[in-house]
Amino acid sequence: MGVYIHWPFCKSRCPYCDFNAHMRDNIDQEQWAVAYLRSLEFYAKKIPDKQVISIFFGGGTPSLMEAGLVASIIDKVQFLWSVANDIEITLEANPTSVENDKLIAFKDAGINRLSLGVQAFKNDDLKFLGREHNVEEALRAIELAKKYFNKSSFDLIYARPNQRLSDWEVELRRAIELSNGHLSLYQLTIERNTPFFMRYSRGEFLIPDDIKGAEFYHLTQDVMEGSGLPAYEVSNHANIGNECRHNLIYWHMADYIGIGAGAHGRFTIAGNKYSTRDHSAPEIWLELVNDNGHGSHDWRIISQKECFYEILMMGLRLRDGLSIDRIEELSRKRFYDMIDQEKLQTVISQKWAIKDGDNIRLTREGLLRLNAIIPYITF
Ligand SMILES: C[S@@+](CC[C@H](N)C(=O)[O-])C[C@H]1O[C@@H](n2cnc3c(N)ncnc32)[C@H](O)[C@@H]1O
Ligand code: SF4
Repeated sequence: MGVYIHWPFCKSRCPYCDFNAHMRDNIDQEQWAVAYLRSLEFYAKKIPDKQVISIFFGGGTPSLMEAGLVASIIDKVQFLWSVANDIEITLEANPTSVENDKLIAFKDAGINRLSLGVQAFKNDDLKFLGREHNVEEALRAIELAKKYFNKSSFDLIYARPNQRLSDWEVELRRAIELSNGHLSLYQLTIERNTPFFMRYSRGEFLIPDDIKGAEFYHLTQDVMEGSGLPAYEVSNHANIGNECRHNLIYWHMADYIGIGAGAHGRFTIAGNKYSTRDHSAPEIWLELVNDNGHGSHDWRIISQKECFYEILMMGLRLRDGLSIDRIEELSRKRFYDMIDQEKLQTVISQKWAIKDGDNIRLTREGLLRLNAIIPYITF
């Protein structure tokens, strides 16, 4: 099982981002500690017999958490569940909040993997993306991450306005040189309800269209494959052994609990797959935990059909795809009762998917069409 902890605060909001992130002048971290620990206790009573293989502190900007708070959450997980000897404990960090001493404190708290939001290696683009750091600070953060943590990764956003393929290739090659075996590379998307959405709708800037976007994607895959860091998922690249264990839990539809404002969870109790969604408003979340022991306002069993659809949506993001056996085991539905065989055949003949015995996976061209293919082939 994985444990996801969401820290819903940032220093400022980046104009492209629609994650659950809030700005507050004062945060009583003691009060948050009480709520996180209480939620963990609640889940441990519901799902006691699991082994925890990963903890992930995501955000928001969890590097703004006090190291003591991070330590108390890790200690509590270790107290409540059995944990794997090689448990992976990741913290997402912004280059502006990872000074030397803080990183040492996170390491001492138990963090063993750091994931940095670098986004770009160009100061003008960092400014456009509303980031608070510059390239120099990003480089320093990458070096410190490598110095203190066994595993580290950083995120970049590509297909930015006015970015040429050749510009991106230069940045990407620089990233590979600096990397520690894992990189997350996201194509810029304009999300609704973000400042970028308004500005983009007003025509203030352009981003590459779908055709150009696909060229960016292919270039990224070519360069990464050629450098020994192939994609193991649509946007995540690693050499063998450096894949992010926590993300693999999501894509394999294994169990995880999600704690913190806006966090999601998926876990199995007595053969039923449950879905939880914690309230996204931080203050309401605190109240809910205080009243009920957990902050979820949407706690339900997911239907076999929903589960089937989700398994495909998650599993087919993976380079290795997934086996029909595994799909049937997880969903408790027969594959061919849920899939239109003729349409699947069409997708295969278009070279968007490959069926190899019991295994099914999407090709690169298929991955570009993932969101269209799954509704097309399912009943
Ligand atoms: C939860 S966020 C980031 C963690 C951390 N707060 C940070 O910003 O460095 C995870 C990553 O998603 C990516 N991301 C967020 N919004 C995006 C968007 N609209 N388009 C592309 N990538 C995005 C960014 O690379 C970001 O680092
Ligand atoms: S990208 Fe990261 S730092 Fe920026 S608003 Fe989103 S979560 Fe916060």
